[in-house]
Amino acid sequence: MATIERSLVIVKPDAVQRGLVGEIVGRYEKRGLKIVAMKFEQVSEETAGRHYGEHKGKPFYDGLVSYITSSPSVLMVIEGPDAVNIVRTTNGATKPGEAAPGTIRADFGVTIGRNLVHASDSVESAAREVGIFFGDGGIVEWNRAIDAWIVED
Ligand SMILES: Nc1ncnc2c1ncn2[C@@H]1O[C@H](COP(=O)(O)OP(=O)(O)O)[C@@H](O)[C@H]1O
Ligand SMILES: [Mg+2]
Repeated sequence: MATIERSLVIVKPDAVQRGLVGEIVGRYEKRGLKIVAMKFEQVSEETAGRHYGEHKGKPFYDGLVSYITSSPSVLMVIEGPDAVNIVRTTNGATKPGEAAPGTIRADFGVTIGRNLVHASDSVESAAREVGIFFGDGGIVEWNRAIDAWIVED
């Protein structure tokens, strides 16, 4: 069986403003992933700088920070077998125009600067990003009654 991983997911300000929170969160749930943390918050500039530190100095960095801090986001930790890859394939390619139909970014987006969702790109990034947003706690360990019908032993 695949290893159980966690991914830090952000339903970004454009998705919240557009009323797509339920639709987007529902896609992760329906795929079989498990929510283990969730909060609604306007990300501060300081936190955005830590989270997107790898992009500092890139031409889109300032725009990215003002986008992510402009309005509230939903911050989540999602758990499951291969969760890092499974969440990213649910989200689709970074550029909505290159994202496969059926993915969140293809179904709801048209431009890279408003691509609706973030997800960790590796297990190591997930650990770092979960620490940034949930370092003070908020992760709930729980048993999901239907797990045996989603993940084999
Ligand atoms: N060329 C760009 N122009 C505007 N925004 C960008 C550009 N490249 C990346 N971004 C923004 O920065 C975020 C982080 O970039 P990246 O880590 O490469 O993608 P991903 O979110 O798919 O992991 C993207 O999701 C997008 O919001
Ligand atoms: Mg990234």
